[in-house]
Amino acid sequence: MSLPVIQNPGEPAAHFANAIAEDPLELMDEIEALKKERNAAILSHFYTDGDLQEIADFTGDSLKLARDAASITNPVIVFCGVHFMGESAKILSPEKTVLMPDLQAGCSLAESCQPEDLARFQNELRAAGRDIQTVAYINTSAAVKSLCDWIVTSGNAREIIDRVPADKEILFVPDQHLGRYLSEVTGRKMILWPGSCMVHEVFSIQDLLRAKRNNPQAIIMAHPECPRNILEHADVIGGTEKMRRHVAAIAEPTTFLVATEANMIHPLQKIAPQHTFIPVPGIMTSTGETCACNRCPHMARNTLQKVRDALRDMQPEIVWQPFFADAQEVLRRSLLEPAKR
Ligand code: 13P
Ligand code: SF4
Repeated sequence: MSLPVIQNPGEPAAHFANAIAEDPLELMDEIEALKKERNAAILSHFYTDGDLQEIADFTGDSLKLARDAASITNPVIVFCGVHFMGESAKILSPEKTVLMPDLQAGCSLAESCQPEDLARFQNELRAAGRDIQTVAYINTSAAVKSLCDWIVTSGNAREIIDRVPADKEILFVPDQHLGRYLSEVTGRKMILWPGSCMVHEVFSIQDLLRAKRNNPQAIIMAHPECPRNILEHADVIGGTEKMRRHVAAIAEPTTFLVATEANMIHPLQKIAPQHTFIPVPGIMTSTGETCACNRCPHMARNTLQKVRDALRDMQPEIVWQPFFADAQEVLRRSLLEPAKR
């Protein structure tokens, strides 16, 4: 008798077939061998599972990984991250084969800004006489990037905002929280798109304050994708690479409350094992229960099995699209070219 296949609408059966656990150490050996055979490099974002960061040739934030993808010489890249990251890698390195463990790894921010909606809104603003430049967070589709003047990541946002001519109004898409934060620190007025990250949006201020009460000496670090009520309590606000550099620069053992995706604890612990890192909310201090709401379900689609399969089958692949050419110009200008002084 064959077992019933449980499948969500639109979900490929392979996603579930792969869920049968294989030995992680054997998978890592297989990946290592296939990587050599294909002359491939594995790039893993800090929000992927710790095992995927361990097998990676390059780990990093969105900015570093985009730059790594452009600079490495391997003809094949396996990008453990989400779709817009694989797309950016392909756009910056069209000649390389860019594989993703799971093409369905999306992003709530990218999803919240559809190209036709953005184009309509830009036209409305221009028709109303507004002289705008559009600044997009890298967490957008290539189709959206092709409509924008600048791309920022959490790692270069301030520097890019400084490059927008002072006489232009800024339309910032799609993350309203990052946009509001950038507007406050740069003093530039911005029109904000109403998008948000499903992971950073749900941090509970009560859990953060409880954790702080239980660890009064702790330093609170928060990603600028968090809403303002969380950022107001943060001692350090920064993207994932900034968090890593910050903890590495402190020698004295310190406790940090970390308000970002929970896998971020892995690179923090690795670079600064002298510290204690407590994910927020992580453990609900009220009940003692663990909470998985600080995990990104899209990043979680990346698994060792899928990396092995991608290297073995040379798919799924990010295939070049005609509109990538427009996105290429803005991505290169924003991420690879230094500002002219
Ligand atoms: P950074 O690693 O660039 O800070 O990005 C965070 C993020 O949400 C990626 O999806
Ligand atoms: Fe998108 Fe948020 Fe997941 Fe990052 S953590 S990929 S911004 S949904």
